[in-house]
Amino acid sequence: MSTQPATASTRRSEPDHEVGSFAEAREQSREVPAAPPEPVMEVLKLNVYYGGFHAVHDVNLQFGKNEITALIGPSGCGKSTVLRCLNRMNDLVAGARVEGEVNYHGTNIYAREVDPIAVRTNIGMVFQKPNPFPKSIYDNIAYGPRVTGMKVESMDDLVEEALRGAALWDEVKDKLKQSAYGLSGGQQQRLCIARTIATRPDVILMDEPCSALDPIATSRIEDLMLDLRKDYTIIIVTHNMQQAARVSDRTAFFTARPDETTGDRTGLLVEFDRTADLFARPHDKRTEDYISGRFG
Ligand SMILES: Nc1ncnc2c1ncn2[C@@H]1O[C@H](COP(=O)(O)OP(=O)(O)OP(=O)(O)O)[C@@H](O)[C@H]1O
Ligand SMILES: [Mg+2]
Repeated sequence: MSTQPATASTRRSEPDHEVGSFAEAREQSREVPAAPPEPVMEVLKLNVYYGGFHAVHDVNLQFGKNEITALIGPSGCGKSTVLRCLNRMNDLVAGARVEGEVNYHGTNIYAREVDPIAVRTNIGMVFQKPNPFPKSIYDNIAYGPRVTGMKVESMDDLVEEALRGAALWDEVKDKLKQSAYGLSGGQQQRLCIARTIATRPDVILMDEPCSALDPIATSRIEDLMLDLRKDYTIIIVTHNMQQAARVSDRTAFFTARPDETTGDRTGLLVEFDRTADLFARPHDKRTEDYISGRFG
């Protein structure tokens, strides 16, 4: 297993044609440094258990500032589990136990003195299924700043800023008092992104944020992610490899391996690299098989 960026000599030499096509799907091209710059978060020897079940084994990862990192891999390999560890959402899952470190700006968010609510304010999460509150559009956005006691000069301005930030303002500015349930799925997901950025987080976690959306809504969310990258560090779980190739700077590929004694299908990180490199020249056979559609 290698979790370091591959060097030319360690790469698999003859990439599959289909593999290369993902690299071509990458519309935006920007220089991505060899290692994650100014890592905002760092995961060290992360192991996760659900009761006696070992779900994730020894994951090490770094998330660079103002980068989009994609977590990909077959169903059950632990992507959501790892993502939830990044803002202590697994605290809310009965029987879940986390070992190892998740450092956020150098502080382990699992340290005893750390307040999980503060963690989730700085590290926000957007879920697979849009989940607006049964409230007005305005109150969905204002909710977080209100409950966290954020000092806000003008709530109206903050609501507008968050909705503009999520590219939703023009569509909803005349119906802020209407129920969020009246919005389309794609609009609801942008509302959830607006709700997340309203509390001014640093990191945004997204677990398959487009899987319930049509291609047009998906494309809007992808554009939005690229725009948000200027201000935020984004970590996204996706099953859509074209999406990972289009939006992410770096990709982590996970798989699950059955334990010889227990039979547990434990998730592990196989390869972590710049997205363009991982898709064009994977250096682990398991990555190549997955991205070329031979597995998973
Ligand atoms: N709350 C839970 N209790 C017990 N086991 C769980 C729980 N959540 C996840 N698991 C198990 O942990 C493993 C990893 O699950 P996880 O949801 O992280 O995978 P995933 O990679 O996100 O899969 P998918 O792509 O299907 O969403 C799976 O075997 C799953 O059954
Ligand atoms: Mg998942």
